[in-house]
Amino acid sequence: MDPGSQDSSTHPPSGIDRRTFLSASGGALAAAAIGTTALDALPSLVHNSSDETIRVGLVGCGGRGTGAATNALNVEPRVKIVALGDLFADRLESSHKDLLEGDHADRVDVPEEMRFSGWDNFEKVIDNCDVVILATTPHFRPEQIEKAVAAGKHIFAEKPIATDAPGVARVRQAARIADQKGLTLVSGLCYRYQDSKQQTIDRVHDGSIGDIVTLQCTYNTGGLWHRGRKDEWSEMEYQIRNWYYFNWLSGDHITEQSIHSIDKMMWVMKDTPPAKCTASGGRACRTDEKWGDIYDHFNCVFEWDNGTKLFHSCRQWSGADGDVSDYVFGTRGTAAIQRHRVDGEVNWRFDGSPNDMYDAEWIELFRSVKGERDRINNGEYMCNSTLAAILGRTAAYTGKTITWDEMVKSELDLSPPAYEFGPAPVVEIARPGTTKFS
Ligand SMILES: NC(=O)c1ccc[n+]([C@@H]2O[C@H](COP(=O)([O-])OP(=O)(O)OC[C@H]3O[C@@H](n4cnc5c(N)ncnc54)[C@H](O)[C@@H]3O)[C@@H](O)[C@H]2O)c1
Repeated sequence: MDPGSQDSSTHPPSGIDRRTFLSASGGALAAAAIGTTALDALPSLVHNSSDETIRVGLVGCGGRGTGAATNALNVEPRVKIVALGDLFADRLESSHKDLLEGDHADRVDVPEEMRFSGWDNFEKVIDNCDVVILATTPHFRPEQIEKAVAAGKHIFAEKPIATDAPGVARVRQAARIADQKGLTLVSGLCYRYQDSKQQTIDRVHDGSIGDIVTLQCTYNTGGLWHRGRKDEWSEMEYQIRNWYYFNWLSGDHITEQSIHSIDKMMWVMKDTPPAKCTASGGRACRTDEKWGDIYDHFNCVFEWDNGTKLFHSCRQWSGADGDVSDYVFGTRGTAAIQRHRVDGEVNWRFDGSPNDMYDAEWIELFRSVKGERDRINNGEYMCNSTLAAILGRTAAYTGKTITWDEMVKSELDLSPPAYEFGPAPVVEIARPGTTKFS
């Protein structure tokens, strides 16, 4: 299945050749055809009509950001990495070094004046590229997506796209504007771009297992990294360096990691939001202060209006057994999404090796940017899946059954009063029954 079939995209204007669509001279024509009137609302791809280079910038030079830059280089020979941004110069420089030691060093062209650190790094990267990779700590994504859309840049946005409901609302709005501007917006919810998952979920959608009755998904892994504490770091720097363990920064592991499972289940449900969620969770192993305020396990029951239930669990416990799996139980069979198989009246297995989903995201992104396929705007589903994960977290933190509508309207904004190195948000671990929904 073509991932584009889940996109809320409009199509590139017909009857306009690719070069004309991309070039500045084709701008007015393309603008008219996609229903925009202002020339400055056009997507930028080539900064200079005689230059075929696609300038890619990276914001958030960690493991995934550096990986995404490499994926872009892997699949498109016109790509050059031209700008790097990270809050911290040391992170930026190690990513730069890795890219220069990689297979595509000849297309990594980031002089010192194009390497930006500090709080405004993202604005400078966005101003200097055609396509921007947004792969920082999740909290910062809404502001960065807004800025990239305002600047008319194509976007690859890692998951999750926010850590609270107001952040999701900002991204939803920005994604709609991206659509009006003809921009490509690809989500890092990578399974949507894996052929084996697409074919398995296609079979659920075409009725191979009958009507969906129940879903179950599990994301059980071990513990992750911790980057320590240095005397010279302010509390804000400490928290951002160790962002995973602070809810305002990561959204907790249900939002940061288990979103992949929730997203697959949302995809199965054709991205219809659940009506409500009841959940539990806590800190069984991560009891030390260094683990911030996030939980280490969640169990959630999501319920849709038609009575379909999703039983979801996730945990990060070092030394315990791991399991990443998801099942869809239907009236005539079962689909094992992670294992790419369908059993029941129809027995089906994915044949061969799945594609590299991380490269596939970029193949489709560039096809979209070049007008070689329907334009991709993954905005709606990346917002819905992020909000579903936040719904599960909030139900667990409060011990309340929370509806989707209540979650959408939540005004709990986890942002700190100021973005500066100094004090950071107070660490307060949620207690079900005491922590209030807001
Ligand atoms: N799709 C996937 O399979 C996948 C896999 C891994 C990570 N991710 C996502 O990618 C994102 C990054 O994860 P990671 O593993 O690379 O983490 P990481 O800690 O290695 O990298 C994050 C980087 O962002 C930087 N950063 C933090 N705040 C910033 C800001 N305001 N401006 C600029 N840079 C800032 C950090 O200094 C760090 O270098 C997360 O959202 C994560 O969920 C997705």
